[in-house]
Amino acid sequence: MQTIRTIAELRRLLDGAHAAGERVGLVPTMGALHEGHLSLLEAAREQCDVVVMSLFVNPAQFAAGEDLDSYPCDEAADAELARGAGVDLLFAPLVEEMYPAGFATSVIVGGVSETLEGAERGAGHFEGVATVVTKLLNIVAPDVAFFGQKDAQQAVVIKRLVADLDIPVAIAVCPTVREADGLARSSRNAYLSADERAHAVGLSRALEQAATLIASGERDSSATATAARRELAAYAIEPEYLDIVDPETLEAVAQIDRSVLVAVAAKVGRVRLIDNVVASPTRTNGR
Ligand code: PAF
Repeated sequence: MQTIRTIAELRRLLDGAHAAGERVGLVPTMGALHEGHLSLLEAAREQCDVVVMSLFVNPAQFAAGEDLDSYPCDEAADAELARGAGVDLLFAPLVEEMYPAGFATSVIVGGVSETLEGAERGAGHFEGVATVVTKLLNIVAPDVAFFGQKDAQQAVVIKRLVADLDIPVAIAVCPTVREADGLARSSRNAYLSADERAHAVGLSRALEQAATLIASGERDSSATATAARRELAAYAIEPEYLDIVDPETLEAVAQIDRSVLVAVAAKVGRVRLIDNVVASPTRTNGR
């Protein structure tokens, strides 16, 4: 595995692979790798000839007051894990390489960016994500880029942007990886105290509760959300949002007559966590 700091060097190294028609996979990350990232790397290794992992804590997607300064950062440990997962090229640029003096462009994805995380964290969050992902896709020109379902809205935003900007890449969305008790793997789990960790499982329990209700015939979105909120309350968690939306458009769903995305965000202590599940209603009368 080679670690590359500059765009020019990465492009130079990828020229041969592109010219030879090799399948290039990109796994964009902000480091602090965990099992979730490793599952993306595994999928990339299986499906691609050349695996590129980017490691860049993107300042543009953090609002003032968010955890940019304390975001976990250990490049040596991440590089070791990336090497073990079969990454060929680790792209770890400095901020100045990605955003040189005079940088003045951003990518704004309307609609699907504006709800859930966009509403809570502000428009700048997905603007920052969309801008850096567009740059990474332009730099690497991968055949496939891999993202996690845990960041369901991010995956929807990125699919929208590659469709709208005609970027020739397939977006693969890999399942959420969970701890044994159901807590979704996240780099931010490292901040949880033992007590907070015990409460944090409430997020996945609430989602399970919603999915079970929907599978057993509940069609009313607000009744489902109320039951899920009750489960959160049992773990002393007050959600920032717990919404039931269409998995593609992210628009609110009132009557659950098709698969829905149940998405939750909550602070557990000072740690902000998100999670989601896609829940499907049971078919009745053969319909
Ligand atoms: O999901 C993440 O880690 C980040 O949002 C991403 C896609 C690497 C962009 O900075």
